[in-house]
Amino acid sequence: MVNGTVVNSDGRSETDVVVEDGRISAVVPWGSVSRTERDTVIDATGMLVVPGGVDPHVHMQLDIGGTVSSDTFESGTIAAAHGGTTTIIDFAEQRTGGSVPASFEARLAEAADSVIDWGLHQVLGGVDAQALVDARALIDREGLGSIKLFMAYPGRLYSDDGQILRALQMCSETGMTAMVHAENGLAIDVLIEQAVAAGRTAPEWHSRTRPPELEAEAVHRAGVLSRVAGNAPLYVVHLSSSHALREVVDARSRGTNIFGETCPQYLHLSLEEHLGRGWPDGAAYIASTPLRPRSEGHQEDLWRGLSTDELAVVATDHCPFCLREQKLAHGESFNLVPNGIGGVEHRMDLIHQGVVMGRITLERWVEVCATAPARLFGLDSKGRIAPGMDADLVVYDPGERHVLSATTHHMDLDHSAYEGLEVTGKARTVLSRGEVIVDGGEFLGRRGRGRYLRRRISREVH
Ligand code: URP
Ligand code: ZN
Ligand code: ZN
Repeated sequence: MVNGTVVNSDGRSETDVVVEDGRISAVVPWGSVSRTERDTVIDATGMLVVPGGVDPHVHMQLDIGGTVSSDTFESGTIAAAHGGTTTIIDFAEQRTGGSVPASFEARLAEAADSVIDWGLHQVLGGVDAQALVDARALIDREGLGSIKLFMAYPGRLYSDDGQILRALQMCSETGMTAMVHAENGLAIDVLIEQAVAAGRTAPEWHSRTRPPELEAEAVHRAGVLSRVAGNAPLYVVHLSSSHALREVVDARSRGTNIFGETCPQYLHLSLEEHLGRGWPDGAAYIASTPLRPRSEGHQEDLWRGLSTDELAVVATDHCPFCLREQKLAHGESFNLVPNGIGGVEHRMDLIHQGVVMGRITLERWVEVCATAPARLFGLDSKGRIAPGMDADLVVYDPGERHVLSATTHHMDLDHSAYEGLEVTGKARTVLSRGEVIVDGGEFLGRRGRGRYLRRRISREVH
């Protein structure tokens, strides 16, 4: 790959990238490689060359009981590849009383259709002694270094504080990272019940019954429990509010080993403009944590948090449901709508808008979309352009303008949360382990070519 500007999280350079057998073998100044006629040359003149994106929070074909998120591992990873993401991490999901190993094996089989490399986190929806023993065993057996716990969704995936403390103690002992969905689910359920009883059922009430204070409270509590457990590595998923961000910053200042993830929807979408559209369109924006009022300044704070490393990662929480057949299938009341927004295809472009707007640097874009998620989740061969790393590379045109739309996206989803949004920057050519899988908008990979990624316990500390 020649004549491009290579961007890593720690700087940019005018260098050519040499690839052999799926790995990067050299990164050298422009024009200094001797070529043979057999070599394939990709000309990246005028382009950026960045590490393939790593999206550590997606939900392909997630069975939520009654319906399944609309992207399969095949369609979802094809969409990801089009957008310059070459690695995803999805979840195996154990429920109360269920078996951890069985849930892991089942998900392993489903994800085998992926066209890009993939890993799994283990959800513990029913923390008990057996689940903790079984989760611990996945470290060596499967190379799995992270669990996920829910402080929301009582009766479904919810863990109480005692269960969370026990799980965090296990993480503290092993170095496993605990991802947490941090919202006070018990309090939220009271607010939902009261809103529905009062006839307040429009989509915006999804956000109004999940106030940012109840997100912040849960982040605070998770941080306290992590410290009490011996400073377990903690990763707060889909952080959406200024309030929750302040708690992450405060916890870090107390030495808590905590990292924050936000998602493009919290940086670009809002209660007033999207969730507040009423029925049917507002249903498309029902996800948890919820979209916040733009007027309250959450977006500004989250962009600032990304620029200053208060937030470590941008993931998508890609969880698509079609509007008519899925989102609206159970009636027009916010609490009956499957939660989730689809966006795995657009993360790199949507965060690149932060560069275009001058909110973050190119290096920071690479850091939060590729390097940090790879590092935090123990993916040693991903997230960086350097000799020895997998040749997951994106030739990115920073000046190409295009409009996001359901009519052109590759996700198996009948609407786009970003319909009509014009963005600047687009992946032109995408390589996964040295193989061109997208070029000029055409998918050239094949089902099942993605590999399961064993991961290292990251032992990352802030
Ligand atoms: O609304 C969302 N985010 N659905 C996916 C499951 C979760 O809570 O992450
Ligand atoms: Zn969640
Ligand atoms: Zn999620």
